[in-house]
Amino acid sequence: MIRTEHLTKIYRMGDTEVYALNDVNLEITEGEFVAVIGPSGSGKSTLLNMIGCLDTPTSGSVYIDNVNTATLNENQLAEIRRKKIGFIFQQFNLVHTLDAVENVALPLFFSGVRRDLRLKKAKELLESVGLGNRVHHKPAELSGGQQQRVAIARALSNDPEVVIADEPTGNVDSETGNTIMDVLQGLNKDGRTIIVVTHDPEIAARATRTQRMRDGKLLA
Ligand SMILES: Nc1ncnc2c1ncn2[C@@H]1O[C@H](COP(=O)(O)OP(=O)(O)O)[C@@H](O)[C@H]1O
Ligand SMILES: [Mg+2]
Repeated sequence: MIRTEHLTKIYRMGDTEVYALNDVNLEITEGEFVAVIGPSGSGKSTLLNMIGCLDTPTSGSVYIDNVNTATLNENQLAEIRRKKIGFIFQQFNLVHTLDAVENVALPLFFSGVRRDLRLKKAKELLESVGLGNRVHHKPAELSGGQQQRVAIARALSNDPEVVIADEPTGNVDSETGNTIMDVLQGLNKDGRTIIVVTHDPEIAARATRTQRMRDGKLLA
């Protein structure tokens, strides 16, 4: 489903070059739950951004369903980001002026779904993550764990095959982190492919496969 070949990303900072990713070869098949673990600065977020078509490599390739993403134009990449992949970030990235149901419905707006239908779907998704009684709360009126569950519901709004989560439990306490992992594990049981970045070994242990990174390289 996802494959990287010799994936390399170099950031140039003045005279120095940082290899954020250095020849990464990774294959993830449909239905897997993969944890990517490694110290801060090892390239985890860069890898997720490449897999999620949010950024482009310096060299090497990312294949999604056997299509080399380098051959796609901006519109086609946007379509993959919108339909195939759901993103969850450490900082939740919710829109603070919108309530929970409007946040979850936002990607459906960009997909052209009618207002009544997108609000209905958003409410169902919030119920599925245990927030049916918080639909009209704004992010500031929700706890960190609740905000992250809103973000998970939003990531699911276009029914993606792959869910990518970058340190989703990084800003919540460990009990809330476990609840968030319960939700991700449930999504995996429903057949979704999950890729989660973490530096917490206990969180990683919940995945079916762990990939370690260091200095931009994937360790065996
Ligand atoms: N936009 C950027 N510009 C310059 N260097 C960057 C940029 N993004 C990441 N890096 C560098 O690339 C390396 C990997 O970063 P990152 O993928 O964020 O690591 P991780 O998510 O594992 O903490 C780090 O050394 C970081 O400083
Ligand atoms: Mg990171």
